[in-house]
Amino acid sequence: MKTYKIALIPGDGIGRDMTAAAWSVLQKAAGASGFTLDAAEFPWSCAFYKETGAMMPADGIETLRRFDAILLGAVGWPAEVPDSVSLHGLLLPIRKNFVQYANIRPHRLLPGVQGPLRAAAFDILCIRENTEGEYSGAGGRIHQGTLDEVAVETSIFTRRGVERILRFAFEQARTRRGKLASVTKSNAQKHSMVFWDEITRQLALDYPDVEVTSYHIDAMAARMVMAPETLDVVVASNLFGDILTDLGAAIQGGLGFAASANINPERNAPSMFEPVHGSAPDIAHLGIANPIATVWSGAMMLKHLGEQDAADAVMAAIETTTASGVGTVPGKDRTDAITAALLAAI
Ligand code: NAD
Ligand code: IPM
Ligand code: MN
Repeated sequence: MKTYKIALIPGDGIGRDMTAAAWSVLQKAAGASGFTLDAAEFPWSCAFYKETGAMMPADGIETLRRFDAILLGAVGWPAEVPDSVSLHGLLLPIRKNFVQYANIRPHRLLPGVQGPLRAAAFDILCIRENTEGEYSGAGGRIHQGTLDEVAVETSIFTRRGVERILRFAFEQARTRRGKLASVTKSNAQKHSMVFWDEITRQLALDYPDVEVTSYHIDAMAARMVMAPETLDVVVASNLFGDILTDLGAAIQGGLGFAASANINPERNAPSMFEPVHGSAPDIAHLGIANPIATVWSGAMMLKHLGEQDAADAVMAAIETTTASGVGTVPGKDRTDAITAALLAAI
């Protein structure tokens, strides 16, 4: 029987319950489709940091490299470990080291979910650059703690980085409704964002079948609320994509529904699947977090592994569950009850 080796990193807070729930659903889908998911679980988290002084062992990246995919819950427990330490010690190095440059985040309303907008139907695929830009980490601080203190954080946009994410987005648009919205802020940021817009125009010549429009990020934020049905594929830089995808989560009913895939399109390193949301410390011990975002991310993992039927079965189970009214209203159903409904629907 075909077996996939999956690295499970539950992480912190609700990440632990979310990965457990998703894993049970994925296991059931795999069994029904005749393949095996073999998990190795890694306790890398803020608790691990407090024990060992590192978010993962020094050879953590090399350990993960041997897996077919990574399923991650959430990282961060700011009351005990600064986010700048925990995220730069685990999540962000995985994305960068494995060149998971395409972060795919779908935003649409599941059946039975009442979003905050009047628009009932929209189907947006956000493609977020995931390895450079505003998250390059280039910079530093000098004269710390004095009146002369300076902090510099430099965005890095490379032709290779911008071109590959835009090409990826053009290709996605081609498989969908043929519309691409490219998001920048080239009226204010006259170097990097003008560069991005220029490359967008150059690549557009290779994709005459895709209708591409450039928007400024502020206008895009408004459009996602006022006219989300006009959008198909939306491509943005690392930080802009981060912000727009929490907005995307909001219009789809909340962070409990927003899935995400960090893809290495060349497949020369594992890809990583995780919800858009974080560890949700405010509800972490209540047992009420919605596992659907992580389960949906798991469906994206199955699709990436080539198990389209199992991926479709998981998505169908999610839709059956929400259509029956389970998991549709934040806080109404417990994590266990939503998971049980998902399992019953497989
Ligand atoms: P968050 O996404 O954890 O929570 C924001 C709000 O959404 C909270 O009110 C939370 O209760 C709610 N929420 C999130 N997921 C939910 C779910 N599945 N069901 C129901 N409600 C849900 O964002 P935050 O509070 O800014 O961050 C908390 C920690 O998580 C921080 O350490 C942050 O850096 C980290 N973080 C990690 C990731 C990741 O690992 N990918 C993503 C975002 C934030
Ligand atoms: C996300 C998260 C991360 C990001 C944080 C935790 C570093 O917000 O995956 O959206 O900004 O990429
Ligand atoms: Mn985010």
